[in-house]
Amino acid sequence: MKTPVTVLGLGAMGTALARAFLAAGHPTTVWNRTPGRSPELDALGATRAATAADAAAASPLVVVCLLVDATVRTALDGLDLTGRTVVNLTNSTPEQSRATAERLASAGASYLDGGIMAVPPMIGTPGAFIFYSGPQDVFEQHRPALEVLARPAYVGTDPGLAALYDIALLSGMYGLFGGAQHALALITSANIPAADFTQQFLLPWLTAMLTSIPNMARQLDNGPVDTADSNLAMQSAAYENLVTTAQKQGVDPSLLTPMGELLRRAVAAGHEDEGLSALVGLLRTAG
Ligand SMILES: NC(=O)c1ccc[n+]([C@@H]2O[C@H](COP(=O)([O-])OP(=O)(O)OC[C@H]3O[C@@H](n4cnc5c(N)ncnc54)[C@H](OP(=O)(O)O)[C@@H]3O)[C@@H](O)[C@H]2O)c1
Repeated sequence: MKTPVTVLGLGAMGTALARAFLAAGHPTTVWNRTPGRSPELDALGATRAATAADAAAASPLVVVCLLVDATVRTALDGLDLTGRTVVNLTNSTPEQSRATAERLASAGASYLDGGIMAVPPMIGTPGAFIFYSGPQDVFEQHRPALEVLARPAYVGTDPGLAALYDIALLSGMYGLFGGAQHALALITSANIPAADFTQQFLLPWLTAMLTSIPNMARQLDNGPVDTADSNLAMQSAAYENLVTTAQKQGVDPSLLTPMGELLRRAVAAGHEDEGLSALVGLLRTAG
């Protein structure tokens, strides 16, 4: 008998999670604020609960996947969660996750926080992984059920850690997408077809540049900061042309300008002979 599970929230992601549990043979109870969402789950054997309280009472393992932290509070506050393990996969900040852990401890629940590194169609496939943080024994106890969703990556007992890892990866992703979007805006401003440019040049270039990230990380871990082939003085000087070209092409440079300012600040602070890893230190002193 597989562990009975409850899924709170049947948005795009909650529905994918419920489908994966059902496919693996877990008795699965579902609840959603708006009733009747994702009717295909009924044919797969899901049990619908009328209220979040009924849903939480139905299973020892309660997986929450709602829009934002405030939604989680609305759905869970006041519920008796004695003896339940709540796994919250809703996107949150580390502070929100720690506060949820405290509230749920008061409600009698064990708590794991999670960050999903996948889009819904990836759930249950090898490319998906999910960060978890919270008590390790609780994680180990529920690992077999959680493995059904995605490869679990346990990152520590502090409940805020999964959110920190999650937000770090999303931040990297949006930086990458922002760069690609700006490149495509420049190219299409000259009526060059985007798809060919992407396949022939953008993807190979970004892929080649990604290989410099592990070197940057090694320098951060081990020091000293390098004297680089591509030093910051040269990069800062050339960066002016990125902004000027955007303006001349009628492209909004707002995704580019913060990096230009950071490069100028690095040079002014005496990092002109160093490489891009020096910028990480400057970012850390900005908060
Ligand atoms: N989709 C992705 O690619 C993806 C990837 C990784 C992580 N995530 C995270 O997974 C979580 C869910 O995302 P999703 O894609 O499933 O979002 P979604 O499709 O927009 O679904 C949002 C869910 O939250 C519920 N909800 C919103 N406000 C509520 C409230 N006040 N009270 C109760 N329930 C409420 C909705 O219920 P109703 O049906 O009643 O509106 C629905 O079940 C988010 O935290 C998201 O950041 C998503």
